[in-house]
Amino acid sequence: MLITGVSGLLGNNVAYYFQDKYDVIGQYFSHKVFIQGIKTVSADIRTENSFGEIIATYEPDVVLHCASLTDIDFCENHKELTQLVNNIGTSHIVQACKSSKIKLVYISTDSVYDGSKGNFQETDEVNSPNYYGLSKYEGEQAVQKMKNSVILRTNIFGWNIQDKHSIAEWILYELLNHRRIKGFKNVYFSSIYTFDFARIVELILNKDLTGIYNCASSTSLSKYEFACILAKRLDLNQGLIEPIDINDFPFTARRGRNLTMNVDKLCRDLGVALPTIEQSLDNFCRDYRQGLADVIKNSWRTIEWYPQLSYIPYGRQSIDEDDISGVVEVLRSSHLTQGGSIADFEQGLCDYTGARFAVAFNSGTSALHCACLAMNVGSGHEVITSPNTFVASANCAVYCGAKAVFADIDLSTYNIDPLEMEKKIVPQTKGVIPVHFAGQSCDMESIQDIIEEKQEQYGHKIYIIEDASHALGSCYKGHRVGSCVYSDMTVMSFHPVKHITTGEGGVVLTNEEELFRKLRRFRSHGITSTAEEFIYKEQGYSPSGLINPWYYEQQFLGHNYRITDIQCTLGLSQLKKLPFFMSRRREIVNRYNEAFKDIELICTPFEDNKCDSNFHLYVLLIDFEKIGIERARFMLELKRKGIQTQVHYVPVYLHPFYRQNFGTNLGDCPSAEEYYSKCLSIPLFPMMTGAEVEKTIDEVLSQIKVVSSIE
Ligand SMILES: Cc1ncc(COP(=O)(O)O)c(C=O)c1O
Repeated sequence: MLITGVSGLLGNNVAYYFQDKYDVIGQYFSHKVFIQGIKTVSADIRTENSFGEIIATYEPDVVLHCASLTDIDFCENHKELTQLVNNIGTSHIVQACKSSKIKLVYISTDSVYDGSKGNFQETDEVNSPNYYGLSKYEGEQAVQKMKNSVILRTNIFGWNIQDKHSIAEWILYELLNHRRIKGFKNVYFSSIYTFDFARIVELILNKDLTGIYNCASSTSLSKYEFACILAKRLDLNQGLIEPIDINDFPFTARRGRNLTMNVDKLCRDLGVALPTIEQSLDNFCRDYRQGLADVIKNSWRTIEWYPQLSYIPYGRQSIDEDDISGVVEVLRSSHLTQGGSIADFEQGLCDYTGARFAVAFNSGTSALHCACLAMNVGSGHEVITSPNTFVASANCAVYCGAKAVFADIDLSTYNIDPLEMEKKIVPQTKGVIPVHFAGQSCDMESIQDIIEEKQEQYGHKIYIIEDASHALGSCYKGHRVGSCVYSDMTVMSFHPVKHITTGEGGVVLTNEEELFRKLRRFRSHGITSTAEEFIYKEQGYSPSGLINPWYYEQQFLGHNYRITDIQCTLGLSQLKKLPFFMSRRREIVNRYNEAFKDIELICTPFEDNKCDSNFHLYVLLIDFEKIGIERARFMLELKRKGIQTQVHYVPVYLHPFYRQNFGTNLGDCPSAEEYYSKCLSIPLFPMMTGAEVEKTIDEVLSQIKVVSSIE
């Protein structure tokens, strides 16, 4: 059985249901999932052949097509994408199944009906009020071209593996956290629990049914009633649920008010009764009590991850067997370097961030160096950066003969303060390198405004390079960091403690073609083999106009900063796991925030509401002086308990190299120094177990209490 959309709610839950009944293969697009005993493969169903390749490789007997965009408002706002995934994607699957005579089960929705009257039968007219329903209906029409197919119109609730919640999970977790919720009293549905749905699919397959069926609960409830029953079954506070009118709620897309479905046809053809919505809720609650939610959410733990250490580091890479086998495969291939994996990794980074161009390097440092070279930094120039960073953010300017200048940080975000940066801009300033410390984006809009003003004042270009070594996966004002909406270039690092790793490695992202072409040449000795870039065209072409295949030009002095195919294959494999890595980091951050929020003399990280941080680091500010313990002692005590911590960072200008060569000194950036006196990064990495998180919390708190009680 091949299940599409195995990272989604339904795909994932049915994969669990069928795992010991079929040989299951799960397809996902960008969110890698881990289910023991199930092989998962990544494919983009929007691309014509990608699904056909999977079919050819695994030869399934049945395809359960669950992959779909399902957020009704998102679909309304992204019609083109919805069309691509829900319609074109489905027709690719139909094509592949048809030619291989595979049974196709297509998951459709109650949203194909207009929602006016309820008790909808399969023969009723289909007239969705929103684009989501429309797109699913068009998918149905593609599937109907296949005889050996069954279309199931449904509405489901169950357990999400991702950081999203189905309606029942949302009600459950909000009430568990004693938060008030609102439930529509005038919206009716006959939703069914995913595991009940899966059981019915099994019967449908056994009976080899074909055609269109409503596949839902046999009774219905309003969403408000649904929430109340769930609360009652799990002894949660029903008083927190407020009945409201959907007409008072500002949805983007129109929604049907009564989407209840008549399931008589399916009951008749199967010869069994379908569960009522109350029975389905009972099954959901039973599974919750038995811990199924945790099993699904923690399924990644069933996978072997490396490295396996006897202590808790402050950060570390997460490598699985897919990473290892990918790298081993390259070792058997023709190209260890300068092969196709580099362009694939670069394209993957562009797709993820939204940048037009990417040039991968053998480190974040070489990427920064070439970004500076691409903006023509040289002697007599100044480049402004944050003091709260790794030395590479400043060294890159110095490599080019320029002076690195430090502008103080904002003590709430620990990032460069745009106003301090403004004060340091002089006619010699060639560029600025804001660093998104720990994953939280700098205030890029203010930085861009200031730079535009200064460019006008001085009459020359001032470049903005984002040092996003910590920020792959973060967003700023709805844009992914790396999209270069607010900058000329963005640099990232793939060192092992970062979000994804290539061993050593980095990238420069840009939307400017000229910068992209320069960066490629700086990466490789200043050489180009691209004919259209040749300076001496007469040497590059034969008299009859053929490109001379041996010819290349060194046009300026570059470096060998090339990354290998071995590294890029690892990078691509890691990139597929990024959404999972990020959601796991977020879970740990939420737990830390909760544990440390009311502790005197400890300050948890501030999160700017313009940013969505990926949390590369979790930095606590601890007033060691007031607590009465030296930071070194604090770190040592934690180390004795097996917990490694780190200090990020010594203000760069306090390093002897900068003091001795650029005359920087203590007192230059008071906020950075105050921050430095208190900061401590505690362990944070995706593979950290719940027990390790709790141990870290307990030991940090016990250090503080031990010291306080001695006082
Ligand atoms: C903010 C920042 N910039 C640049 C770099 C340099 O990256 P790499 O170690 O890949 O050379 C790092 C690495 O830790 C970093 O943290």
